[in-house]
Amino acid sequence: MLARCVLLFLALASWAQAAPAPANAYYSEAYRPWLHYSPNKGWMNDPNGLVYYNGTYHLFYQYHPNSTVWGPMHWGHATSNDLTHWSHQPVALSPDQKGWIFSGSAVIDKDNRAGFGANAMVAVFTYHNDALWKAGQKNTESQGLAYSMDEGKTWTKYAGNPVLNNSGEQDFRDPKVFWHEPMKRWTMALATGNQITFFSSKDLKQWQHESDFTDETSAPLGVWECPDLFKLRNHDGTEKWVLIVNHGDKAPNGGSGTRYFIGQFDGQRFIAEQDARWLDYGPDFYAGVTFENAPDNRRLLMAWMSNWQYAQKVPTHPWRSAMTLPRELRLDSENGQYFLKQQFAANLSELASLQYRSKTPKLPLQRNDLDLRRARIRFSVNNAQDLNLVLKNDRGEQLRLYQKDGRFFIDRHLSGQTDFSPDFSRKTLEMPMNGEGLNDVELVMDRASVEVLLNRGRYSMTVQVFPVEAYSTFRLESASGTGVRYLS
Ligand code: FRU
Repeated sequence: MLARCVLLFLALASWAQAAPAPANAYYSEAYRPWLHYSPNKGWMNDPNGLVYYNGTYHLFYQYHPNSTVWGPMHWGHATSNDLTHWSHQPVALSPDQKGWIFSGSAVIDKDNRAGFGANAMVAVFTYHNDALWKAGQKNTESQGLAYSMDEGKTWTKYAGNPVLNNSGEQDFRDPKVFWHEPMKRWTMALATGNQITFFSSKDLKQWQHESDFTDETSAPLGVWECPDLFKLRNHDGTEKWVLIVNHGDKAPNGGSGTRYFIGQFDGQRFIAEQDARWLDYGPDFYAGVTFENAPDNRRLLMAWMSNWQYAQKVPTHPWRSAMTLPRELRLDSENGQYFLKQQFAANLSELASLQYRSKTPKLPLQRNDLDLRRARIRFSVNNAQDLNLVLKNDRGEQLRLYQKDGRFFIDRHLSGQTDFSPDFSRKTLEMPMNGEGLNDVELVMDRASVEVLLNRGRYSMTVQVFPVEAYSTFRLESASGTGVRYLS
């Protein structure tokens, strides 16, 4: 009986229209996302200081409050209790005579090791002197501390800043700090040119150099930025360390992108055990880093949903940029090779105004009358090799996602406004899938972006699009991938 009910449920395909976006001026701004965090106004880039404390997720971010292009960097601030609804908060950190406030991380200093007080929220950031840096001078970036005793509302910069002086590098930034329990000390991963340098400290104030890690196996990529380092446990109990590195240029689809290495870290040295992989093959996924102190040992990541090639030109006003949806990272393996799987961590059922879910879509499938501004679409297919999915509107604007020769492609040449930058639609975006067929597709469209997770989050692509009118037609076809699959 139960089995029959399950079968019946699986056979159902449903389009559900849920709550519409609130009818206020904010959400009527063209391209204003609803499911994704974007600042009220001003320019935003990297997520910074992602930390959970006392029921609240804190998202700090690179922020230029009075302009929609990059400039003197502040840390903006937003909070959420559920990773789904975000509230804007006052600016947390502003530039001072020591420099602009570049990217970094935050920790909860439970045991008052830094001396600011038990449970101080401590931000570790980069001081950047832009004029000297642009003049090619070395030694213009150093690391500073600030602390908050009221859960991120007000901040005091440490009088002894900087706590980590540059030894002569031009790029010396984006500290990611965490507590390393076996060594009973803090670890810092810092981006230093084309490598990651590890430091250690007992008190967050005095830092000692431990080691440098670089990648000798792949072709040189753009400058290394925004590292992260954490441990994950496989379903069979195997533990691996994951080193995330962001690259300012030369990602597979052009411009900036996020890679990760899997290996071992003993508190001093990171040893990679396999070649690096790209975390997301879309062009609009950068500076991805994870929350410290998240409950239930979850590893939750957010990235900046744009690309340095054109981020300052995208047609939005009075703000620029949104973050990706928060994603939970899990470790998995196949044939002795480890990789990360991703899953959206926001409660999308509550937020998306249109939901489509089907275990057994009858293909070809076409609907012409949909409001696809904020849609979550999930379906499974059976080892498809030739899936073709199109979102389009009556103006002829369309976004096409398709498979060919064991690869997955996104074509945004005709997706809407594209002429603000030649880099935006220079090429069809592509992702290798090791020849694998497609089984599951999850796609979230939110006004001006599409995030796609394939095969239960093993493959991921994030793209921005700027259709002049919302897409209203959804078309899905595949000659090969029909047939019933029973996935939970
Ligand atoms: C990455 C980055 C960081 C830097 C910040 C400046 O996007 O270049 O390396 O700290 O942005 O805004």
